[in-house]
Amino acid sequence: MPVFADVDTGVDDAMALAYLLASPEAELVGVASTAGNVPVQQVCANNLGLLQLCGATGIPVSKGAEQPLSAPLRTAEDTHGPQGLGYAQLPSGGEALTAHDAAEAWVRAARAYPGELIGLATGPLTNLALAMRIDPALPTLLRRLVIMGGAFDYRGNTTPVSEWNISVDPESAAEVFSGWTAAWSPDDAAHVPIVLGLNLTENIAMTPALLNRLADAAGASSAPMSVRDERGTRSTTDNPLIRVLEDAMRFYFEFHFDTGDGYLAHLHDPLAAAVALDPELVGCRETTVDVELTGALTRGMTVADWRGHWGRPPNALIGTEVDPVAFFDRFISRVGAFARRLA
Ligand code: RIB
Ligand code: CA
Repeated sequence: MPVFADVDTGVDDAMALAYLLASPEAELVGVASTAGNVPVQQVCANNLGLLQLCGATGIPVSKGAEQPLSAPLRTAEDTHGPQGLGYAQLPSGGEALTAHDAAEAWVRAARAYPGELIGLATGPLTNLALAMRIDPALPTLLRRLVIMGGAFDYRGNTTPVSEWNISVDPESAAEVFSGWTAAWSPDDAAHVPIVLGLNLTENIAMTPALLNRLADAAGASSAPMSVRDERGTRSTTDNPLIRVLEDAMRFYFEFHFDTGDGYLAHLHDPLAAAVALDPELVGCRETTVDVELTGALTRGMTVADWRGHWGRPPNALIGTEVDPVAFFDRFISRVGAFARRLA
């Protein structure tokens, strides 16, 4: 299945890309680099370095917009580390970026695989919105779109009510949700996007024990991490991918610990990647979603009209149930085996 990933690589975006590369049924046909967790140039470097680390050649990586559609860019080095991968060091260099930008890359990929392409967006929706401005029919070309974003009947992680990906660029999210409806004629069975918010993804908590299971699956000896370790302790495993994931996760564990979640890490984007390949992994409810843009307290809030007050057609399937054990079994078996092959 051809997959196009739009990421703001960051720690969990990197793990989502590793999962796609580890999944035999997925063909990663393109990567859009979106400004978010770190500035877009750093996202590009992280994507190129990760693909190089994974021995993935010939996958076009495109650079997205420097800024959100109308808001000034905010980044999250406190969460993902100064370069977006925690304490991990990626290979420098890698292949060259495409000459065209990320929005054009979305359009080219959708047109290259009409009706087949699976879209995955795990960062702000800036470049997807720009792509839909280039080609408003883009939603009708996709087989499926999975978006990690929003928080539905659930608190935010960036403001009291907004989730990071939406909060960085609320205008782009509003354009994607409204443009989705506009792309389909009324009698079309619109393939609405699957939208996984914090209400769902915060059920997927990576722990030191689970990370150790991943290292074991890769045949990589590794001492289980602990909150008592000295901060910044580097992985000692000789497996190149496990070492990067452990060094990235330690920073992410430390951030979650400092914010009161415990020494764990929510794997928002890997869940979205797994759902992009297999929507059966989650339970969903169809509804109409819109994004608050002007609220002094609520800007960036995703609002789900569960009761149909707005009288508008549905434009989203909201993820509402997931089995974390099933997800981690699949994630660990795939990424562990993939990492083992890289040793
Ligand atoms: O709110 C979580 C989302 O914001 C994840 O995609 C994470 O990578 C950050 O981009
Ligand atoms: Ca992300």
